[in-house]
Amino acid sequence: MISLGLEPEDEVICPAINFKASPLAVLGQGAKLVFCEIDPHTFNCDSADVERRITPNTRAIFPVHMNGLSAPMDDLLDIAERYPHPTHGPLKVIGDAARACGGYKETKIGKKGWMNVFSFHTMKLMTTLGEGGMITTDDPELAKMLRGIRQWGNEADTWGSSYKMTKVQASSRKCPIKSS
Ligand SMILES: Cc1ncc(COP(=O)(O)O)c(C=O)c1O
Repeated sequence: MISLGLEPEDEVICPAINFKASPLAVLGQGAKLVFCEIDPHTFNCDSADVERRITPNTRAIFPVHMNGLSAPMDDLLDIAERYPHPTHGPLKVIGDAARACGGYKETKIGKKGWMNVFSFHTMKLMTTLGEGGMITTDDPELAKMLRGIRQWGNEADTWGSSYKMTKVQASSRKCPIKSS
């Protein structure tokens, strides 16, 4: 959410069935949280309802890949292209992959969207001795910014703090996602 540079009038759409971590990330950056309905068969975002909730202030769609199943990323990316923000262009689609690391169509969860955020907490599918996480993206500018945020803004013109795993945690899980 930090990397979106959100303003108070900006809106981010999140599924109503969720863990509080993703809605709190939106509120933590001072933006407006907009809940969407879920598909009762998958517990994932209902993309038709996402489309209904888009306004000129929408900046991002933030689906959760629920309990092993991918969110409908192709549908959400299509919506993101069709409703660009007047200043920032196509909406960003950010996947919360804390609860799912499986496949999606011809690819894997983590590949589609601007970025996908994984959790390696003890209760999750992939764990690293307690706490940890990973972000996947194909956007080199975003990757540079995220590395900066992780390490006090070093090597990137950005605000930063310390969001690192210990080396032991980082080495306890091999990354299952190949980047292009
Ligand atoms: C959907 C979802 N997103 C985010 C999180 C938070 O992950 P972490 O504890 O690694 O920050 C959780 C944790 O339960 C979750 O279920």
